[in-house]
Amino acid sequence: MNEQAKQLIELVNKKNAEINSKFISITSGKGGVGKTTFATNFAYILANKFNKKVLLIDADMGMADVHIILNIRPENNIKNLLSGKKPSEVIIRTRGIDILPGFSGIESISDLEDYVIARLIQDLSNFSQKYDYVIIDTAAGISTKVSSFVRASSKSYVIFTPEPTSLMDAYALIKSLYKIYRYGNFKLVANMCKNKNEALNSYERLNNLAKKFLNKSFEFQGWVLFSQNVQKAIRQKKLISEEYPSDDFVRNLINIASKETQEKIEVSDESFWRKVLKFLKNK
Ligand SMILES: Nc1ncnc2c1ncn2[C@@H]1O[C@H](COP(=O)(O)OP(=O)(O)OP(=O)(O)O)[C@@H](O)[C@H]1O
Ligand SMILES: [Mg+2]
Repeated sequence: MNEQAKQLIELVNKKNAEINSKFISITSGKGGVGKTTFATNFAYILANKFNKKVLLIDADMGMADVHIILNIRPENNIKNLLSGKKPSEVIIRTRGIDILPGFSGIESISDLEDYVIARLIQDLSNFSQKYDYVIIDTAAGISTKVSSFVRASSKSYVIFTPEPTSLMDAYALIKSLYKIYRYGNFKLVANMCKNKNEALNSYERLNNLAKKFLNKSFEFQGWVLFSQNVQKAIRQKKLISEEYPSDDFVRNLINIASKETQEKIEVSDESFWRKVLKFLKNK
């Protein structure tokens, strides 16, 4: 290893510099519960209603959907970072948010030289520092890729719907990450609800499972109504928060964002990116 590579790795091993950023992953046990819809609109609302600097990362490597919801065509993704591009050249800015598109290809991380990883960590950490919020849309389930992003985030919103299968899968996700990795910074979000009562009931059912079997309670971050306008906006290639700003779906997300902005940042000793890449590499 040359001198420059050694210096870089030393630098990267220093304390976390991302102390003013909140890293929130959006995850779920079951697929199709509304993660990407939530993540995209939540990022939009934080940026446009709360004046925050927001980076939205599409970390769903199987089906990167963020760009479809936003109707943008990214030219680059993480692969281009591995081949030397800077994050600023890869991100796309749209509607007041920065998007880091499709993390496909990161599977090959275990084949990378340490100094390449070190450079990547440093580039991404430096770049992320300037954001108030980094929102990470993940795939469903507990693959290494998903769990690496979740475990590295300061908190993870678990999206579930009132359907029993969705509740059970949400519980299974929480249980695995808690039991295997002792990760427990989950906030629960009920989506596609008929009303507040249904949302609260399903939260109670999920949280009761956690209390009974894990001896741990998880906070309710909020709830979101089922809205016809979500799909209508997608068909129109529009973002619901932009197109139907007074829709109940949007109001519900504003409530959740408002709660979030009042909460303190939980600072970790280690950089988010350093954790993600370490977890991915040591799978
Ligand atoms: N609150 C809502 N009201 C009505 N429809 C919704 C709502 N939230 C999401 N949807 C719809 O549910 C479907 C799945 O949403 P989305 O793609 O966001 O889920 P996902 O959890 O990201 O899925 P995947 O696991 O495949 O990544 C989409 O058709 C979306 O428009
Ligand atoms: Mg998705």
